[in-house]
Amino acid sequence: MSSTRRSTGKHAVVTGGAGFVGSHLCTALLAEGTAVTCVDNLCTGMVENIAHLAGQPGFTFLNADVREPFTVDRPVDLVLHFASPASPADYLRLPLHTLETGSLGTRNALALARRDGARFILASTSEVYGDPQQHPQNEQYWGNVNPVGPRSVYDEAKRFAEAFTVAEANEHGTDTGIVRLFNTYGPRMRGYDGRAVPTFIRQALAGEPLTVTGDGRQTRSLAYIDDTVRGILAMAASDLRGPVNLGNQAEITMLDLARTIIALTGSRSEIRFVDRPTDDPAVRCPDITLARGKLRWKPRVEAAEGLARTIAWFREQNDGGQHGGEQHDGGQHTSAQHDGGQHTSAQHHGEQHTPAQHTAGQHDA
Ligand SMILES: NC(=O)c1ccc[n+]([C@@H]2O[C@H](COP(=O)([O-])OP(=O)(O)OC[C@H]3O[C@@H](n4cnc5c(N)ncnc54)[C@H](O)[C@@H]3O)[C@@H](O)[C@H]2O)c1
Repeated sequence: MSSTRRSTGKHAVVTGGAGFVGSHLCTALLAEGTAVTCVDNLCTGMVENIAHLAGQPGFTFLNADVREPFTVDRPVDLVLHFASPASPADYLRLPLHTLETGSLGTRNALALARRDGARFILASTSEVYGDPQQHPQNEQYWGNVNPVGPRSVYDEAKRFAEAFTVAEANEHGTDTGIVRLFNTYGPRMRGYDGRAVPTFIRQALAGEPLTVTGDGRQTRSLAYIDDTVRGILAMAASDLRGPVNLGNQAEITMLDLARTIIALTGSRSEIRFVDRPTDDPAVRCPDITLARGKLRWKPRVEAAEGLARTIAWFREQNDGGQHGGEQHDGGQHTSAQHDGGQHTSAQHHGEQHTPAQHTAGQHDA
């Protein structure tokens, strides 16, 4: 933190703060002068994500599992509850952990907020809409989720976490808010986490085929991390209970996303079609009327720009950046699909279909 930065005197706890989204939140909060305690058990996060914050005044890292009750000594003004495995590769590897983090972890994070009368924000997800029958999805839509499918460990954990958060507010008057994040991408995603953007970028930079699932016509909407962080902090500063959708409405097919990344990286990679995962949503696009109206928020970063920044970061890692290149997380990393944004049409050097292993999903979180 720069010595000229003025402290707000506030203290935020970010669970999952060593993960992709959480580490950007920690950085943004510290930049505005809020002290931050990052609580993380590093099951999918990495200390490298918060290495730039170590030693900064006001930053504390607490290595703890939120499934167990945890506490921080200093009074808390804001709890951002972002701990949860989020990529399909991760939650399929950690099914019970994911359910327990969404349930017990949410209970424990809410208890901390209640203790100090803090504002509490739950990171929910577009996955609560499942394979949606309504398009685009607004917050009134109840979703179409398979409760016993492979993805249910994540989807139902988040649905339970939402229910718990609402019940906590009703029963104890805790000041809660729920954000439903649609697919977000940017620097610090892991090349092997199974999500479309990092998978495609990793493959393109390595000159490997980009693995597109199904016929690649399924769509996602992609938000750049800076936009998502701005929306979360706007929600934290408001008194809205939500849920509020945060996402980019520019929808893109997975095939166009793959072609765009090939063009932006200048790669000679081909596209290879592989099987589509079980319960993979065909479409995904947020209705953000509520966030626009109540939070005065809308995404600013277009896909071409956000992808270029993300590609630049991946190149840096390959060149020996602090993440030391790519990490394997033990998950599968067949193809990918994700989200949206714009698409530059790009040449593709032969597209093939290869029957492939069946993973339960490579989109979002
Ligand atoms: N990235 C997206 O597109 C997206 C979309 C929708 C919702 N979200 C939500 O945002 C949050 C962060 O997602 P992400 O993409 O940064 O994933 P991530 O895996 O990079 O980060 C999750 C963090 O939570 C930590 N964690 C998991 N279980 C924990 C536990 N029991 N105790 C303590 N720490 C634990 C992990 O170590 C990791 O640092 C998640 O709650 C996810 O559901 C993300």
